Amino acid sequence: MLRVAVLASGSGSNLQSILAKSKQGLLDATVSLVITDRPGAGCLDHARAAGVPAIVELPRLDGESRDAYDARLIECLAAEAPDLIVLAGFMRILSPSFCDAFAGQIINIHPALLPKHKGAHGIRDTLAAGDAEAGCTTHWVTAELDGGPHILQARLPVHADDTQASLAARVLRMEHWLLPRTIQLIAEGRVASDGRIAPGSSWVDLPGLADASWSDGF
Ligand code: GRF
Repeated sequence: MLRVAVLASGSGSNLQSILAKSKQGLLDATVSLVITDRPGAGCLDHARAAGVPAIVELPRLDGESRDAYDARLIECLAAEAPDLIVLAGFMRILSPSFCDAFAGQIINIHPALLPKHKGAHGIRDTLAAGDAEAGCTTHWVTAELDGGPHILQARLPVHADDTQASLAARVLRMEHWLLPRTIQLIAEGRVASDGRIAPGSSWVDLPGLADASWSDGF
């Protein structure tokens, strides 16, 4: 069993999708630690309801530097020694020292078709660019923001009447599939450090979005 630490800042629907798939026995992975930088965030409710053994609220202290905060984060993670760290809507940029401390052990999900639309506004920027397609990408985390090797990508057409909310909702449904799917591939030892995926035949139960498709991240 892969021991997974999930870092989240928001409602935690991606965390919930991992917990649900794990409970269904679809993941060779268990969430052993959840950390949030936002006390009271919804992700905590999902973690508690699922009985995650370690749940930590780690808000940034007044005036605390990024490096000082990340040093506390590293300490917290090192104590649990997870095999994999999953950024599931964790809205802080991580310092190079954090990325170095867990090199090759961190993945992120981003709500856009990387390498397009890096940063905190993937959906907004996809719409603003007038792109015909939107989607989400899982990738290994390096010190370059949203710039690490891609693992999987899911794509959907943008509809003429899409708003930020309608598009974000469809992309989020794909995220709920793409992130656990990526974790399972890593648990099976099939994802290389450059993101390439070795062939195999584990579950692929795409959500019921008729116009969606997915591919590896290349
Ligand atoms: C997701 O869209 C994720 O890609 C982005 O933040 C959102 C988190 O949603 N980085 P949730 O907290 O998992 O519901």
